[in-house]
Amino acid sequence: MHATAPTSSLDLLDERVLGDPYPVYEAMRLMGPAIRLERHGVWAVPGYDEVRSILDASDLFRAEGGRALTELAGTILASNGEQHARLRRVLSRRLAPTAVARRQRQIQERARRLVAEHTVGAGFDAVELARAMAVGTVMELMGLTESSSVPVLDGLGLMPFDAFGPENACGPTGLPAAGAAMLVFLHENVTRGSVRRGSWTEAIFQAVDAGKIDEDEAVPLGSAYAVVGIDSTILGLAGTITQLAHDPEQWFQLREDPARAEAAFHEAVRLDAPIQGLGRLVTEPVDLGGIRLEAGEGVWLLLGSAGRDPRKWGLAADDYNLRRAGADKHLSLGAGPHACPGSHLALMQARALLRALAERCTTLSPASAPVRAQTHVLRGHTAAPISVSTAGRRTGARQPALTSPPESPR
Ligand code: HEM
Repeated sequence: MHATAPTSSLDLLDERVLGDPYPVYEAMRLMGPAIRLERHGVWAVPGYDEVRSILDASDLFRAEGGRALTELAGTILASNGEQHARLRRVLSRRLAPTAVARRQRQIQERARRLVAEHTVGAGFDAVELARAMAVGTVMELMGLTESSSVPVLDGLGLMPFDAFGPENACGPTGLPAAGAAMLVFLHENVTRGSVRRGSWTEAIFQAVDAGKIDEDEAVPLGSAYAVVGIDSTILGLAGTITQLAHDPEQWFQLREDPARAEAAFHEAVRLDAPIQGLGRLVTEPVDLGGIRLEAGEGVWLLLGSAGRDPRKWGLAADDYNLRRAGADKHLSLGAGPHACPGSHLALMQARALLRALAERCTTLSPASAPVRAQTHVLRGHTAAPISVSTAGRRTGARQPALTSPPESPR
């Protein structure tokens, strides 16, 4: 027996919803396991358990053909089955925990250097710091030199993500051109002659030479990893620093015990998923918590809502808490066969950057309101000014040097 499906005329792209989607997500979780969004022509899925089970069931809910995907998604994110496994295998060894662990020293050194450079005055921009970290790391691993022309956040790099949105979610202008920005950059910068040993581009060309992928898949594949790897990492790292700057008690905990850097990152991306939603295509009729979904329909998985679901996270789901048990069980890095292959790299960068900040800085506090990124699917900031004081110097900071945990602002 199927329940009557809840429907809604809600516009997920309304500026007010984009500004603060969490009250809307809460209302949607109360409506049911899936809500028919008339305006977007998809089922929105707001609950943690349902999102998780859909991500795991990639045969029933395919990434390929998921609503409104761009050419970027068409390379790897949106492929399925053997085609997906074939593309994903190309870089899987380079991104495995052991391979990422070998880069630890490099990444730590980059983090310390960048933190020292960015905190030399009374303040810094968390987004600029995160951008320098993510671009430097990814370009080095790709085997390219850092270049100011890398198309990233608040340039064109952001825009391809908007095409992951529910139907009609694409921005009005320039998606093809935006999706092409990283492709153009890589076409200009990646040649067989300039490939570095051990780099991602070397692995990609080796796969071409071994007949595992076609020559014309090479640059789009590198582009997919570079765009996702840079932009979502910028949002995740900057979001974590901003969260800590707003929460002196949790910042104190991090300084007391820098081993909590990983939890600081997990909690920040759980609370404010950098990728707020993912599209999937239903392949055959299926029951979702008593609601019948038909083959060919689209589902929109609200990762941002799953991260706040009290059925999973308890009544304090909205709190930022470095001591939360199972903080890493969020879905903001995906799950199932398409789970983020860059998660170890993202975590390694987060650990290095947060530990370097905790070592060097006594206080962090917001200097002014952060500037929200104007995108439909990604959530985060294009600027987040932070006041800072470092050991032995107290300038511009609003919080006293931390000797005991202050009251949380919440
Ligand atoms: C804070 C940082 C990051 C976040 C929040 C994030 C989030 C995600 C999410 C939610 C997915 C699932 C997409 C889906 O199921 O359709 C995903 C997949 C993916 N991510 Fe990440 N990611 C991050 C960092 C990275 C990094 C550093 C890389 C590159 C090294 C990367 C490369 C990818 C790729 C290639 C996929 C597609 C995987 C597939 O379809 O099999 N990501 N990411």
